Amino acid sequence: MVRRRTNAGRLRPGFAERYGAWALVAGASEGLGAAYARALAERGMNLVLVARRKAVLDKLAEELRGTFGVEVFCCDGDLAVSGFLETLQAACSSLDVGLIVYNATHAPVGEFASAAVEDLMRVVDVNVRAPVALLRAFLPPMTLRGRGAVVLMTSLAGNQGAPRIAAYAASKAFTRVLAEGLWHELENLGIDVIACCAGAIRTPGYAMAAGEDAPGTLDPEKVVEQALSALGRGPVVIPGFVNRAANIFMSRLLPRRTAIAIMAGSTGSLAPAKETKGES
Ligand SMILES: NC(=O)c1ccc[n+]([C@@H]2O[C@H](COP(=O)([O-])OP(=O)(O)OC[C@H]3O[C@@H](n4cnc5c(N)ncnc54)[C@H](OP(=O)(O)O)[C@@H]3O)[C@@H](O)[C@H]2O)c1
Repeated sequence: MVRRRTNAGRLRPGFAERYGAWALVAGASEGLGAAYARALAERGMNLVLVARRKAVLDKLAEELRGTFGVEVFCCDGDLAVSGFLETLQAACSSLDVGLIVYNATHAPVGEFASAAVEDLMRVVDVNVRAPVALLRAFLPPMTLRGRGAVVLMTSLAGNQGAPRIAAYAASKAFTRVLAEGLWHELENLGIDVIACCAGAIRTPGYAMAAGEDAPGTLDPEKVVEQALSALGRGPVVIPGFVNRAANIFMSRLLPRRTAIAIMAGSTGSLAPAKETKGES
């Protein structure tokens, strides 16, 4: 395939040779996921884009093909629905998927005790069950090839209890610990694993819930650059100086009760679930 330089994107080869020809981004249609897709295409990788909104994925795919000359395959569906993973795996069976980004999330805001049970279970389905199932499905071919990479998106919110986003924060703690275990388990098999533990990021989802930037808020492109640069230097990367300082302060210096109270102060102003975007 001919890969070309354009005004919009300078190719930075290396990732395809290091990890394999194809990258899969779960939760790719907008915000951070779309930024991962662009950065990986810029590094010469073909893309499998996964999210629910087909039209948005198709538009991004067209942009990536035109700008970077890579192949792009869209697989639209709901990661919370059992059966979708089998569809995705079958669709990718002939592709050398060497890098996986799990970015999709469900992040309802509001009091736990009055939340709809379905909404809370969806947090478990999208943020916990789906990445476990996806990795179990896609890691074996990578271990056979002796090369690959995994980026799992997690959050500083998962470093301690986070009132009004309690289930989301707990799911992000799960993600970080999962990544840390896999990092050690897979490093001698040629697979780089990293948990990208982010503070606030300027994505549509964050803008809808938070309204205005918190201290240290980063653009998606900056988060992606730092996460991809940290591959091979895992298990965890925290993009942004302010966020790294906040991480030390909250998880090492403060008593846990105080850290939870500070989190409550910042999540208290988040818009309730019914005002956040659609289902995610
Ligand atoms: N934004 C922040 O401030 C922030 C802070 C810390 C950590 N993070 C982490 O960074 C990641 C991105 O967060 P974000 O909320 O800002 O979102 P985002 O990257 O703007 O978008 C989330 C993506 O996931 C897709 N998605 C959501 N539910 C899905 C489902 N059930 N099946 C398939 N695709 C699904 C959405 O597309 P469709 O709607 O088309 O399905 C969208 O493409 C998350 O893992 C989050 O925990 C974000």
